[in-house]
Amino acid sequence: LPENERQLLKLYDEATKFYHHLLINTEIGDTALQYLYQRGVDDATIDAFMLGYAPTDDVLLKYVTEKKYDYQLLRESELFIEWDDGSLHDRFTDRVLFTIRNQTGAPIAFSGRRLSNDADVAKYMNSPESILFNKSNELFNLDLAKNDISKSKTVILFEGFMDVIAAFQAGIRNGVASMGTSLTQDQVQRLNRIAQKINITYDSDNAGQAATQRALELIGRFSQMKAQVIHIPDTQDPDEFLRSQGVEAFQNVLQHNTEDPIAFNLRYLKGNYDLNNQVEIFSYIREILPIIASVNEPVVRQTYLQKLASEFNLNYDGLNEQLQPLLLTKI
Ligand code: UTP
Ligand code: MN
Ligand code: MN
Ligand code: MN
Ligand code: MN
Repeated sequence: LPENERQLLKLYDEATKFYHHLLINTEIGDTALQYLYQRGVDDATIDAFMLGYAPTDDVLLKYVTEKKYDYQLLRESELFIEWDDGSLHDRFTDRVLFTIRNQTGAPIAFSGRRLSNDADVAKYMNSPESILFNKSNELFNLDLAKNDISKSKTVILFEGFMDVIAAFQAGIRNGVASMGTSLTQDQVQRLNRIAQKINITYDSDNAGQAATQRALELIGRFSQMKAQVIHIPDTQDPDEFLRSQGVEAFQNVLQHNTEDPIAFNLRYLKGNYDLNNQVEIFSYIREILPIIASVNEPVVRQTYLQKLASEFNLNYDGLNEQLQPLLLTKI
């Protein structure tokens, strides 16, 4: 490794331990610690994920200044923001910190969550890209989950840190997060090397469902993984569902609340149409026939067509006739 990369890893390692220490051992971190307890996170999990607390008043800067780090290195670390007068200040202030680790488990970035519900403050603030951190490449928790993914050949893809952490605490250890709703090609290809199945367990709100559709598209295009969509009931995030319903109920959802990509898309796209209107029903059908045509097994295709025919009271032969040219143009 180049010397400055080695130094940056050391700096991140020290910052992580320092923030963790402030969270668990000091008065200053108590509000943040209570916040995590109240969200159901226990001490062992706080340790396993090296969760931290970043206070105000540039405490990190003061801490690392004592350790005599090079000024240029501090700038490159992105742990600080630089004011117009050239002075550095802690980037993360009054936030619970989630440590983002690379494949080998070394801290390379942070995401800080606000403690309040104040909508004027961004809920999460993330480290920008740096020498260590290539955002589109990393998946939260891949280092800890890797073994369980390889063994089960299955990965669970969540949206958020708290979802992965709640699952981990419940003994479900093959979860990773895309850290938001925009999964990337790199992330998909990385998972494809160790998993054969991917269970997309995004939030059940609109943003999560839209992101699920995009994720399915990427996974289909850039991997051989068999994708399934897990639907969390009651518009809850996975972590809320786990906390309120318990791990058995969650396991049950993972087993049974599943849709294959086709079924997901047929259901999801319905939301774009007023299905009391005959013209819109036809538009919906025009949109989904190419999706049904993309299914390779004739018997599965015909099952979907049959369902469609009976759901909208349409003639099966007519639907089938409309599907045929789409089969021929398939590449
Ligand atoms: P969500 O809005 O679903 O947040 O965004 P969450 O994970 O459920 O947060 P909690 O449970 O309220 O704490 C999903 C993910 O998107 C990224 C974060 O990685 C978050 O975990 N995100 C979200 C941001 O980067 N910035 C934001 O302001 C919001
Ligand atoms: Mn500890
Ligand atoms: Mn969400
Ligand atoms: Mn969420
Ligand atoms: Mn949440």
